[in-house]
This record gives sequence, C-alpha cells and structure tokens, in this order.
Amino acid sequence: MVSNLSSDLMELLEELPHPLALVLAGEPRTPGRRGGMAVAWLSRVSWDPPLIAVSLTSSRHTYRLIKEFKCFTINLVSKPLRDVTFNVFGVLSGWEVDKFKVAGVEPGSGRSVTAPTIPNSPLIIECKLVGEFPVGDHVVVIGQVVDAYRGSNESPLIYYKGDSATVSVN
Ligand SMILES: Cc1cc2nc3c(=O)[nH]c(=O)nc-3n(C[C@H](O)[C@H](O)[C@H](O)COP(=O)(O)O)c2cc1C
Repeated sequence: MVSNLSSDLMELLEELPHPLALVLAGEPRTPGRRGGMAVAWLSRVSWDPPLIAVSLTSSRHTYRLIKEFKCFTINLVSKPLRDVTFNVFGVLSGWEVDKFKVAGVEPGSGRSVTAPTIPNSPLIIECKLVGEFPVGDHVVVIGQVVDAYRGSNESPLIYYKGDSATVSVN
C-alpha cells in the first residue's frame, strides 16, 4: 500500500520518464457522452498484434467511456496543450464537466474508432479495447492499435518529476 512506501521511494519513482498523453473516449460531438484524461502510465506491450497498455483508476469517467464504447484514442501532448492537460484533463472530472468545453478544445473524430481526437497532436493512436487487468489500485487497459497518424510536427512532451519535460533527439 502507498502508506507503507517511503516518500523517498515515491519521489524516486517520479524520476521514471513517461509519455504525456490525453486518452479520449466517447462520442466526439456529444457533450456528456465524451471525455478524456491526462495519462502518463502508458506503454507499448506487444509488436504483433500492436498493443498498448494504459493504467487507469477504475473510478474515472474516461474508463467508464472506454468500457462502454470499447475503444479510445491516445493523443500525445505538445506545448500548446500542456496547461490544459495538467489543469483541466488531469484534475477535473468528466462526471461533472465537459472538459473539451472548459479547455476550449474542439475535438476531432477518430478515423477508425468512435472516440474524440486532438487534431493537432504530434501523434494520434486509435485503439480498440481488447482486454483489461486489475493491478493494485489501478486497472490496466489493453488497446489494440488500429490506426496511428501525426496531427502536427510539434515535439511531444514527456512526464518527468511531476512536470512536463521536452524531448531532445541526439
Ligand atoms: C500529468 C498527469 C498524468 C496523469 N496520469 C494518470 C495515469 O496514468 N493514470 C490515471 O489513472 N490517472 C492519471 N492522471 C490523473 C487523471 O488524469 C485525473 O484523475 C482525471 O481527472 C480523470 O478524469 P476523468 O474522471 O474525467 O476520467 C494524471 C494526471 C496528470 C495531471
């Protein structure tokens, strides 16, 4: 349990770099039937078929939409969306507000799945839900990648030490 972990250990684990993404689900054009959340705990987990695992808290509105629609999109976050990722999608609840309206973000529609997208995200990955596993205090959702494309040439941010950081390619 978290209460048994030292704060040093928790701080050290924050030094594990993660992608910074918005996971979106639901009907793109229908406030109340769409949602999304900031996510850092996600990773590729299989080449063939191409699978991605996302670790979510099961009480989240976004998780309920993923279960209902059986698909979702992963949208990498670049600088222009950094603040709404942390201050809107990462803290507000889709049970209470339409985060797209609060953030002033007009979502696009998935090409291959029914889910919102961030049209100018550096990388948009569309997934079908193919499995889920309870893990500790989270649920790992497994998405099979059915489409992926670039929405812009902006650099993606990563999640590092509780904040965003820029990626530089050597
Ligand atoms: C940078 C950042 C990364 C986050 N990563 C995750 C994550 O990987 N898994 C998770 O369950 N919650 C994560 N959260 C918290 C959710 O985004 C947050 O609880 C959100 O309000 C859930 O919204 P919803 O209930 O509308 O789905 C993160 C928050 C921030 C700010």
